Amino acid sequence: MTTDTTILDGLDFDAAPYAVSDEVADLLFREARTIGAFTDQPVTDEELAAVYDLLKWGPTAMNITPLRLLVVRTPEARERLAKHVNDGNRDRVLAAPVTLIVAADPRFHDHLPVLAPHRAEMAGWFEGQAETREDMARMNTLIQLGYLIVALRAAGLDAGPMAGLDLAAVDAEFLAEKGWRSQLIVNVGHRDGVGTHHARARRLDYGQVSLTV
Ligand SMILES: Cc1cc2nc3c(=O)[nH]c(=O)nc-3n(C[C@H](O)[C@H](O)[C@H](O)COP(=O)(O)O)c2cc1C
Repeated sequence: MTTDTTILDGLDFDAAPYAVSDEVADLLFREARTIGAFTDQPVTDEELAAVYDLLKWGPTAMNITPLRLLVVRTPEARERLAKHVNDGNRDRVLAAPVTLIVAADPRFHDHLPVLAPHRAEMAGWFEGQAETREDMARMNTLIQLGYLIVALRAAGLDAGPMAGLDLAAVDAEFLAEKGWRSQLIVNVGHRDGVGTHHARARRLDYGQVSLTV
């Protein structure tokens, strides 16, 4: 495990015009890391509900909010999940206090009268548009995944998202009855020390990722 956070040294964050304090910007983004090693401190259902109560306000198309969570907590459930996770990821799933299976609900339109009362009549149209629903559910769930990671950090928790697993097998193992489609998993807990053996890698600059016309 390394303590190398020197990549942050010498960068002039204070000059940036953010509406949140430096402490908040550090907590949510600049100092937050992808965590692989957690302490034994449990993650409660109340903490996870509080995280959801924050992330749910992030915008999605037509307010469909298709993200669903399967909380994998017991040793038995953890073993069932670990079978379908890539070798390099398996130990971290078995060791994390909680792993969230982040899934998309293609039947998001069942909730449209509540979520989009101004477009409630669209629920009937969506019923015949299975492919469109799958696409919308997936895209908006992945948008909500970003909110989830930030909301976990806001709640003082650490996250280790992982896409290296057999999603179809996870669906068959856990989600067949619900019809949800897993997108990835997120280990959740409290970091053990630095919580990662990877040094912080640089990010691309704005000039490298943007064009203006
Ligand atoms: C969608 C997604 C999928 C990822 N899948 C894996 C994975 O399967 N295995 C793994 O070890 N790390 C995985 N990661 C972790 C990334 O490698 C990590 O978030 C990235 O390198 C940034 O690390 P940092 O937050 O510590 O700077 C994934 C991250 C995301 C957001």
